[in-house]
This record gives sequence, C-alpha cells and structure tokens, in this order.
Amino acid sequence: MADIILGIESSCDDTSAAVLRDGVLLSNVIASQQVHKDFGGVVPELASRAHEQNIVPVVSEALRKAGVTPADLTAIAFTRGPGLLGSLLVGTSFAKALSLSLDIPMVMVNHLQGHILANFVRQPDKPVDVPSFPYLCLLVSGGNSQIVKVNSPLEYEILGQTIDDAVGEAFDKCSKMLGLGYPGGPVIDRLAKLGDPNRFHFAKPNIPGLDYSFSGIKTSLLYFVRDEMAKDPDFLEKNKEDLCASFQKTLIDILMGKLIRAAKETKIKQITIGGGVSANSGLRERIVAEGRKRGWKTFLPEFKFTTDNAAMIAVAGWFRYKAGERTPLDVAPVSRMADY
Ligand code: KG4
Repeated sequence: MADIILGIESSCDDTSAAVLRDGVLLSNVIASQQVHKDFGGVVPELASRAHEQNIVPVVSEALRKAGVTPADLTAIAFTRGPGLLGSLLVGTSFAKALSLSLDIPMVMVNHLQGHILANFVRQPDKPVDVPSFPYLCLLVSGGNSQIVKVNSPLEYEILGQTIDDAVGEAFDKCSKMLGLGYPGGPVIDRLAKLGDPNRFHFAKPNIPGLDYSFSGIKTSLLYFVRDEMAKDPDFLEKNKEDLCASFQKTLIDILMGKLIRAAKETKIKQITIGGGVSANSGLRERIVAEGRKRGWKTFLPEFKFTTDNAAMIAVAGWFRYKAGERTPLDVAPVSRMADY
C-alpha cells in the first residue's frame, strides 16, 4: 500500500497543504496572506485569523488536486514550530482533529527541518538530483541563519548560527529603513540587479567560529545613508540600486565566508541552501560559482520550495513516519524549537 502523507504548514503568514504519495509530490497549495502588507511586517493576530479562514479550503484544494480523499490518507505531517504560536496552533489543531476523525497517525515536523530537506521534494516526471549524506545546508530565512551538518534525514548538527538578527531580518529591516517596502528581500534582490555591488562598502562583523551576526551591518547602512542624506537629500533616490547591490553583496560575502570555512573544516563538498533567503538570485549565483571553483556539488531548491510551503513539511514528515515516529494527540505547538 502506498504511503499518502498530508503535510500542513502554518508557522507564519502562509497557509499551505501538500499531498505526497510514496515521497512524490501530488499537490502543494499555498495561500499567502496579503493582510500584512500595509503594516511593514507580519501581524501575529491577523496571521492566525487568516490561517483559520484558509485552512479548510487550502487542505480541500490540496486533496482535490492530488486526486485523493481524506480516507486515502496514511498520516498527517504538520509544523509544530518554530514560528508564531497563534499561527502554529491553527495547523496543529487542524492536524489533531483530522488525525482523530480519520484514525490515522500524525507526525510533527520542525519547520527548519522542512527547509533543510527541501531538495528532497520529488515531483512526478521531473528527475531530481538529491544530496547525499552528510551534507551542509546554509539555512537562511527571516528567523534563522545557520550552517547545519545534515548526517541523515533525522540527524542534524548546527555548526554555526547567528548570534543576533537573521539575514532575512537584515534584508527586511534595511528595506524598511530605505523606504522600499516589505518583505525586503525580494525588493532588494530586484534593485540589486540594476546596481553596482562594489560602489559602497559596509563594515563586516568579526565573529569567532562559524557563527554569524547581522545586526551591525544594519546600523552601518543606517549611519551611512543618514550622513550622505545630510549632504544631498536626494542621495537615496539617486543611489538606491547601488546601495541595494552593495548591501546585498556584503550580506552574501558574510554568508559565504563562513560556509566556505565550514566546508573546509568538515571536508564536506555536498552543499545545499534552504529558507526564504535562498530565493536570492545573488546568493544562488555565488553559491554555484564558489561550488565550481571548489569542487562542491551544489543543490538549490526550486523557487517555489524556498519560501514556506507544506511540500517540504510532508517530505520531512514522511522520513519521520518511515522511521516509525508518531506524535501523540496531546502535543502542543512551540514558538521556539531548539532541537531538530
Ligand atoms: O523562510 P521564510 O519564507 O520565512 C521564515 O522566516 O520562516 O523567509 C522569509 C524571508 C524574509 O526575510 C524575506 O525578505 C526573505 O526570506 N526573502 C528574500 C528573498 N525572498 C524572500 N531575501 C532575499 N532575496 C530574496 N529574493
């Protein structure tokens, strides 16, 4: 009998459901919430209300597109954390109710693990090259920046991580500061393509080991722009492409510096990226270029699997289900989840 897994993701501002048959993706439906745009960031209360409105139609649509009925499901994989508690509560409660009513098991997934395994999403009629274990994953999102050594689908070691802001936060906060809108990453990425990445220079942090820091560069950009605006009030408008390109290049230099070091120290040449910031075109180009130079085999998730989606949660859940993991009905969502 085939394993048919329903994946549910609701950790932040995307309600998503996916169906996987024996590891092959049959559907992946995402309802992105537009309600936050006017606020320059995700409003937790509005996010959980929108999840409540979206969850039933999104799951129904995922089942319909996959051509399966609830009775066909083998198990439900859901995001337990980390994320916004109210948002996680919607997906977790839905998973529990469905598990109870269908009398099928549920498997909890760490959201970050989903991003780390995004390269394992197999689509029908699309050959996919998957990394072999152990591999390194540069996990970069709005809430995390980590270098993770992935020993197996269930075994992870965090080699380094940010000691303050996540790199996605640096993109978002700086975009807001420059008046470019939210979320900042895609806007900066787009403008950076039109600018000169070597025009301006921002101080890079000096953090020991494989850890990161992204709070200083924000301040560096803020002071630089403030001083230049004092001389020329139109500085920002005249130079926004070069500012974005230079700022983005600095962030990529910081990310790549530690990743190269981790690859050297561990002697691992299988390199992947995951998380929202892995959609960044500059980062994708650089990782491929460095890979060519250093003999790495690099794996980039398809764009649709870089941001929050249930396909990656279903895949991570399927690995756990196959390993015999089951989650009891009294499970509660958690906003922080230190262990993988
Ligand atoms: O993984 P994600 O969807 O949500 C979590 O944080 O869990 O990541 C969202 C982050 C935001 O900070 C957003 O600005 C960033 O990913 N992002 C990008 C790009 N697309 C999304 N950052 C840089 N370049 C992009 N193209």
